[in-house]
Amino acid sequence: MSETPLVNPEVANMVGDWRGYVEAKLGFRNHWYPVRFSKELEEGSVEVIKLLGEQLLLKRIDGKVYAMRDRCLHRGVPLSQKVECYSKDTITCWYHGYTYRFQTGELVNILAAPDSRLIGRRKITTYPVQEAKGLIFVFLGDEDMVHDLSCDVPPGFLDDDVMILGKHRVVNSNWRLGAENGFDSLHIFIHKDSTLRHFRTFNFPLGHTCLPGAVTLHEDADGPKGVTDDFSKHHAVWEGIIDGEVVIRGPRSENVSGTSASAGTSIWLPGVLKVDSFPVAGTTQFEWYVPIDEGTHLYVQTVGSKVSSEEDKNRFEDLYERILLPHGLDGFNADDIWAREVTEPFYADDFGWVDEMLCETDSTLLEWRRVASRHGRGIQTLENLR
Ligand code: FES
Ligand SMILES: [Fe+2]
Repeated sequence: MSETPLVNPEVANMVGDWRGYVEAKLGFRNHWYPVRFSKELEEGSVEVIKLLGEQLLLKRIDGKVYAMRDRCLHRGVPLSQKVECYSKDTITCWYHGYTYRFQTGELVNILAAPDSRLIGRRKITTYPVQEAKGLIFVFLGDEDMVHDLSCDVPPGFLDDDVMILGKHRVVNSNWRLGAENGFDSLHIFIHKDSTLRHFRTFNFPLGHTCLPGAVTLHEDADGPKGVTDDFSKHHAVWEGIIDGEVVIRGPRSENVSGTSASAGTSIWLPGVLKVDSFPVAGTTQFEWYVPIDEGTHLYVQTVGSKVSSEEDKNRFEDLYERILLPHGLDGFNADDIWAREVTEPFYADDFGWVDEMLCETDSTLLEWRRVASRHGRGIQTLENLR
């Protein structure tokens, strides 16, 4: 059977060395993705999620989380339509009683036809799950491609002394518009009115010019793959000028020498951004753009801080509740969300990837597209959803 293209082949043929990125409209397979916070899934409860176009069931059994395709092998209905769990580690299809074990996906019984020869011989697809830093990660891919979680998170995220807090929400744009919005250093322009600037002394230039040496590619065989953009090597733009007149100025603190609101950003496969020294000095923002389907992503926003005592933890939790959540993740990032959603229609039919007119500083986005194309471990296709 021939592959059904998810992306317009005409566009895919035109983009050269970042074709894989354009084809990954539903995301890159064979990577770890955060889908929920651990505290959101209680023992015994079942949660329905969608990841790279596949609907999955999550269940916590004896403390451990399992992920299984939410589609009965018999007639293809979603098991989640009416969750029936008659034992701790099984789920029974509400329609004719096919019963599956969560840990393995094995068809362990058919309650309405207990003598069937299918029993014990068929399996629903299951995916590996791992919890780290209070997040539930699912490996959406093939068994023989599973690798260490540390290859799919930004450096520093898993450090023992880092505490992570955060939230998630659904954004109505393709995941790549999330990733590019975060990594795009020119988009600081949209944040010039952010209330966040009242909570620390940092600078909000109108834009940046990327100078030589700012961008580094990370392609070591056994580490995460990504692109770093160092803002200390940028030239900041403070005044907007039209016809020789200054029409707007970027908010600038007298005592701060920084060229931007953060020290720099980096973007990593499979679509996670690290923002250094942000939302406030001493904290780091890590945020994922997890593909749900072609037009939607789960925006998983987290902030990390080094903590070495209970007192540190309490102080960080207090800072999160008072400032980081309301003015950073909710306030500042609200601008990012609406920008992505407004950008979506231009790229929805794929032609945006060839009709866009990027400028010089956008070369960082092209580096990201190339790195993602070189190191994405597989493209999610319509065949994978069958
Ligand atoms: S459709 Fe699930 S048991 Fe028949
Ligand atoms: Fe932003």
